[in-house]
Amino acid sequence: MSIKATIDKIVETSKADINEIVEILSCDNTDYLFKKANEIRKKYCGDEIHLRAIIEFSNYCRCDCLYCGLNRKNSFLSKYRMELDEIVEYAEKAYKNGYKTVVLQSGEDLWYTRDKISYIIRKIKEIGDIAITLSVGERDYEDYKQWRLDGADRFLLKHETADEKLYNYLHPHSSFKNRLKYLKWLKELEYQVGSGFMIDLPGQKLETLAKDILLLKELDVDMAGIGPFVPHPKTELRNSLPGDTNLTLKVLAITRILLKRVHLPTTTSLEVTNIKDRKNAFYTGANVIMRKVQPYKYRKLYEIYPNPNLKDIGIKEERIEIENYIKMLGRKISDTRGDAITKSTSS
Ligand code: 5AD
Repeated sequence: MSIKATIDKIVETSKADINEIVEILSCDNTDYLFKKANEIRKKYCGDEIHLRAIIEFSNYCRCDCLYCGLNRKNSFLSKYRMELDEIVEYAEKAYKNGYKTVVLQSGEDLWYTRDKISYIIRKIKEIGDIAITLSVGERDYEDYKQWRLDGADRFLLKHETADEKLYNYLHPHSSFKNRLKYLKWLKELEYQVGSGFMIDLPGQKLETLAKDILLLKELDVDMAGIGPFVPHPKTELRNSLPGDTNLTLKVLAITRILLKRVHLPTTTSLEVTNIKDRKNAFYTGANVIMRKVQPYKYRKLYEIYPNPNLKDIGIKEERIEIENYIKMLGRKISDTRGDAITKSTSS
């Protein structure tokens, strides 16, 4: 089959196998793939881009992830924790500036007990109709259950890589099997679930990326964060090369044509690696973007990887800037919460 025929088949059947995905990923000519991904995005998600406010509220982490600057062995990082009411205050500021979703993200920090997170969720829900996405890592089933009852809507837990051996090497504190178990729990509890992975982790092959995409399909995720790996100088992977952003665009595009109704953000790591490809991502399947809203003093310290684009800019100014950017792209700013896209909410 020609590449074009393979792409058409995936568009039509929403099915693919590893070989077909590898074949598309290996092909240098991306015109047809990108065109189809953009069409599918338009058909199933429309022209709206969803803006999400993210509050990175603690950079303490109990994990040892080899690629991440927050890993507990990185003693060069100054640590911070936001107070519970401070988190709520920034969620309210985000809401007043037009954000309808707030993503609460942190390192795996057990200082924030089940009850503390419950308090934050309930307080934020009193502010208005604002969707809450949690991204706080692996916790007890009872924690996830309680937070769902408190009103949390979504949960992001990336699978990072679908290669079990590579996953276990990169995450010495945990295991791939565990990760899948947690993702299953989140589905069971009826969160809108997000997963995702990094592009060009050392040791990764195109087959791995094909498995990553197929795992998203199998998990039936509502959203997927896919971004290039960025080496952090204070981690074990400091000497590895940054991920290829063109490959990232291809992976986004295949994810779009295979999964169809899925929220795909342009990740910060893509902005850091090649800002021009952020724009391209919005034409190869992406329909979501996140902006940090916690105070600048904390943004600087949430250093998963170095980010030279960080600016000391207020929530309001940044909101205006991003709205202008979206208009410049010829796209619309969503005024909805941007919940999971289901058969009944899309064409
Ligand atoms: N490069 C790119 N992405 C990274 N993440 C963590 N470290 C890196 C890195 N060095 C991503 C992971 C994690 C999310 C919070 O950030 O996918 O889930």
